[in-house]
Amino acid sequence: MDPSYVQAVIETERQNLQVALWALAIFMAAVVGHRVVFKGWQPRTEMGLLTRERLRYLSLPLLVLLPLWWVTVRLPQLFFLSAELFLAVCLFGLALIIEPVRLRVAKKYMLTSWLFPVLVYAGPVTVFLFSVTEAPSLSGASGYALGTVLVVFFFLHVVYLYLFKWAQLRHPLGEVLRKRLGRWVYLGVLGATFYFAAVRPQVVDLPPSWLAILAGLLVLLAVLVVSEAIIATVFDFYFPVVKRSEIPTFFRDLVRGLVFIGLFLGFMGLVLKRDLNSLLVGSAVITVSIGFALQETLGNFFAGLALRLSRPYALGDDVLVGQVSGRVDKIDWRQTSLLTFTGDHVNLPNSLVAKEGITNYSSPSRLHARDLRIGLHYRHPPNQVMDVIKGVLAEVEEVRKVPAPEVHLLDFQDSAVLYRIRMWIEDYPNRWNIETKVRSGLWYAFRRERLEIPYPTRTVVNAPTAQEYVYGNESDPQVLPFLSHVDFLEALGPESLEILARSARFRLFAAGEKVCRQGDSGDSFYIIRSGRVGVEIRDAQGEVFLRHEMSKGNYFGEMALLTGEPRSATVYAITDSELLMVEKEGLRDVMVANAQVEEVISKVLARRQLRTEKAREEAEGTRVSKEEHAAGPAGRLEQISEQLLRKIQAFFSY
Ligand code: CMP
Repeated sequence: MDPSYVQAVIETERQNLQVALWALAIFMAAVVGHRVVFKGWQPRTEMGLLTRERLRYLSLPLLVLLPLWWVTVRLPQLFFLSAELFLAVCLFGLALIIEPVRLRVAKKYMLTSWLFPVLVYAGPVTVFLFSVTEAPSLSGASGYALGTVLVVFFFLHVVYLYLFKWAQLRHPLGEVLRKRLGRWVYLGVLGATFYFAAVRPQVVDLPPSWLAILAGLLVLLAVLVVSEAIIATVFDFYFPVVKRSEIPTFFRDLVRGLVFIGLFLGFMGLVLKRDLNSLLVGSAVITVSIGFALQETLGNFFAGLALRLSRPYALGDDVLVGQVSGRVDKIDWRQTSLLTFTGDHVNLPNSLVAKEGITNYSSPSRLHARDLRIGLHYRHPPNQVMDVIKGVLAEVEEVRKVPAPEVHLLDFQDSAVLYRIRMWIEDYPNRWNIETKVRSGLWYAFRRERLEIPYPTRTVVNAPTAQEYVYGNESDPQVLPFLSHVDFLEALGPESLEILARSARFRLFAAGEKVCRQGDSGDSFYIIRSGRVGVEIRDAQGEVFLRHEMSKGNYFGEMALLTGEPRSATVYAITDSELLMVEKEGLRDVMVANAQVEEVISKVLARRQLRTEKAREEAEGTRVSKEEHAAGPAGRLEQISEQLLRKIQAFFSY
């Protein structure tokens, strides 16, 4: 070998090492300086803290760029270093790769701590020594070159350690990138060092085609690192941290899969210079066979994709799929897993999920209606039952006030009146507890209110006559005691009461129901046993000009009955009301026999008519005529009473 060439190589390597050592020194100084500045600088204001963090991240690349700038300015021939680097890096890389294995194996086979490293490293060390002695003429250059490679590797390694292990990253994105990129970047560190060594022709004469492949692989690795960084930023930072929405892992797997396929094609096409067309065609056969084999998996995959696009549910939603209900625990490219409300995990293949109907209890709203059915005894008025049920529902806090719960009378069944409760809840998984609260609340309330949930019973009743069918039992035993307590009938003797009782029936009216309508003809009279009724009179234009309320013991319907005129007012139940209805004939018989009753009733009637008159005048704003005015209210009442009495006598013609 030409001694001047050897001398030149040695000189170059010596310079390389010098430059590398300087670069390392600059790098270390920059790292130390960086730490000193940013640790020592403790701003007090929020703005200052923010500025420091920004500058800290922004200045990080400088730590690397400074020494690199130093090197490139001085060594344009940077890439022609000795091949000894190759062996050195191999040794180093090998050590790093096998170290964890070594520890495990040593433990397993109880090898003493020194014996195993000797066995492991003996081979590469021998090769290294052999290669160095093989090229004695370049051994001087090899020494420098080895030093340079070590320096380069040390530099890259420290950069890696600093970025991925030591530096305190306070930003969540930093943590994410660290976790996802670490292994790829370290592979890059090893790869770059390896390439750095391999391009040296002195010892290992790698053919240019191999070098090109190596370079191509490094470029692809760089692309991979960038893609991984983007994927990690999008899927591990942007959506979960910034947007606070979970992205199913299978979506990330899909994107990564595409990136890997792209990189593989890039490697085949750009690095190995294969014809991609033939590659794709050739692989078509394989693809078809694999496709058949993976038919189901692919079906699940595309079903998963479709589910993702239509988004019928998201992670954490409570759903019912087919027969299985539970909380969506995981969605990946093959299956959806549900954590059932009984604590089991059920994995449903996506194709099955796509085929089954999906009920989502959480989205678009967590509102969910529950229906409860309950049967009550026939004797209880529906309005009372519904009021009690609504009272119970209002007490259970898990039952939403809006939309308000509803109670429906659903059916008249063999032994019970069936009600349905429709209530809205938000906590679907807790539905049984909520229903239990409601049901037990109902039990207590029914008990308090003496409402009975009947046993299935069958009552055999003889078919009623038409008369009985309409009015109920002929001799209601409760009518007589009630009549004897009505004040205006006090003067009646037992026989008269008996007569009256025979033509009287209790009738129950629901709140809001009309008992009689203004203008209708009427031949019954009512005494209020329980509840409240309202009286309403309208003028010719249909405007209400009088409203009056009556309760227990009051009576109404006497006007039409006694005078034969149409009903003077509309009377309706304000609450559920039980009324004793007396028919015209009954009252007439009693009045014929008892002049006092007639008098009392006609007085009340007169007062009412006077009230109506006044209200009408007030509404119309008319003045009472002078003579009426002169007579005074008492006189007017007398007047009306007399008129009425005459009317009554004429109507009853006695
Ligand atoms: P009648 O006309 O048969 O039907 C409607 C009933 O309403 C009437 O009998 C009275 O009993 C009652 N009524 C009419 N006007 C009044 C009033 N001003 N005050 C109280 N009750 C009334």
